[in-house]
Amino acid sequence: MNNNVATVLQITDIHKVLGGKEILRGVSMTVDKGELKILIGPSGGGKSTLLQCINFLLPPDQGRIFLDGSEVHFHKKAELYRYRQQVGMIFQDFNLFDHLNALDNVSIALRKVKKIHKAEAGDRAYHELERVGLSDKTDLYPAELSGGQKQRVSIARALAMDPKVILLDEPTSALDPELIGEVLRVIVDLARSGMTMIMATHQIGYVKSLTNEILFMENGRIIEHGPPEKLLSADADTRCRGFCEMLKDLVREP
Ligand SMILES: Nc1ncnc2c1ncn2[C@@H]1O[C@H](COP(=O)(O)OP(=O)(O)O)[C@@H](O)[C@H]1O
Ligand SMILES: [Mg+2]
Repeated sequence: MNNNVATVLQITDIHKVLGGKEILRGVSMTVDKGELKILIGPSGGGKSTLLQCINFLLPPDQGRIFLDGSEVHFHKKAELYRYRQQVGMIFQDFNLFDHLNALDNVSIALRKVKKIHKAEAGDRAYHELERVGLSDKTDLYPAELSGGQKQRVSIARALAMDPKVILLDEPTSALDPELIGEVLRVIVDLARSGMTMIMATHQIGYVKSLTNEILFMENGRIIEHGPPEKLLSADADTRCRGFCEMLKDLVREP
């Protein structure tokens, strides 16, 4: 572990077997405060599995995770719960509670997990919904919201916990093309405000100016990594560039 105080999250040599298949084959990375790391690569390469291992939704078979310089001991329940509160997760399919309105979706964890009083949790939730442009939608239920609005509620919910890092797993890939922009704009604002994030995405054109490192993942390993100028420049002979060139025909940039 290095002693650089700016390092928020460090993972070393993460391995994971699922269904008898080696899905992660030794993944390591370091994320500094305020960084946006972009995870990209072909479908099935292990991006979702990696993000789930980082937040311990899937326990890694091997590997270590450090938050703010301290190793997380996941077998200790209190440590696991504290860690989960500090590492937010945004899923492709939003994962909202259908029976709760937007405000309660954002405030529920503040009340149940952080034990914050209802009125204060509500104020905090309102503030976060305002931040993602949804202050007029607080009473609406997920079924009454568009996909883009639902994803913004889920971002507000993550923000409400005041996390040290947010993991985003293809946050716009379940959205209709015309709704992608409103969600990416919120993510761009977060990156500019200094939020520390790891995001799996194919919207590389939109976010490449905000990242200092792209991690190209294939077959359970990060096979290339570096700044976008290096991996994506016109003369770069990288798998990452080839992959992104191919995506250009498939992924619509807002
Ligand atoms: N629960 C599981 N059991 C068996 N294999 C799985 C399971 N979950 C994911 N996989 C496999 O792991 C591989 C990596 O998947 P994933 O992490 O979703 O990749 P990505 O997000 O890069 O598309 C895929 O081949 C997928 O079929
Ligand atoms: Mg995935």
